[in-house]
Amino acid sequence: MSTLTKLALGVMGQLRPRPTRGDARSVIKLPAPDKTGGLPLMQALGKRRSSREFQRKPLPLPVLSSLLWAAFGVNRRGGGRTAPSALDAQEIDVYVALPDGAYVYDAQAHALRLVAASDLRRITGYQDFVDEAPLDLVFVADHARMRMVPAAQRESYASAAAGAIAENVYLYAASTGLATVIRAWIDRAAIADALGLTHDQQVLLSQTVGYPAKSRG
Ligand SMILES: Cc1cc2nc3c(=O)[nH]c(=O)nc-3n(C[C@H](O)[C@H](O)[C@H](O)COP(=O)(O)O)c2cc1C
Repeated sequence: MSTLTKLALGVMGQLRPRPTRGDARSVIKLPAPDKTGGLPLMQALGKRRSSREFQRKPLPLPVLSSLLWAAFGVNRRGGGRTAPSALDAQEIDVYVALPDGAYVYDAQAHALRLVAASDLRRITGYQDFVDEAPLDLVFVADHARMRMVPAAQRESYASAAAGAIAENVYLYAASTGLATVIRAWIDRAAIADALGLTHDQQVLLSQTVGYPAKSRG
């Protein structure tokens, strides 16, 4: 769907998810992430960039598993995570929009839990590539987990935490040859509605991930 069509439908509150083939599972247990290999950190930093052209090819489950672990997985005993959060509130939930359904990443169980059995990718942003790329992430802050943080600081702290998660995804993508872009140009109300979020939950950012479009040269 073109950006203009999305903008028009968004204004009318008519931007709707696509139906799926109906095979969304309520829980997807992810395989163990691959914590070896990849590019050395400085080389991955050398390749980090935003890309906006993707193949439709789906991400295999092992890749999705490693990507989500890199993003915000549990990396030590006691439940510590790969990205920081103020007072360790761990207030960001990573929602995962796939062609077969929308899920929330349960880092403790390293699993995906179904939140909507429809294809929400097109809802996750105004840019046209988000519809066809195989994965759109949505970073959502749960303010109910930030009661220890002064109210005036909650949004900025949560945005910093989401930014750290996004950079983890950028580095995983750079390290494994995937393409990605973080996106703030999104319809937060439409996403919140599609994901069935509560008043405590705030949509912050989206991020598209996929295989880079093959160069035409
Ligand atoms: C907070 C934030 C919001 C962004 N929003 C968008 C967006 O909505 N759409 C988009 O295509 N790129 C978006 N970007 C990506 C920037 O355009 C990109 O990082 C910038 O052009 C620099 O390019 P680079 O990431 O390749 O270094 C965003 C980046 C940040 C940090």
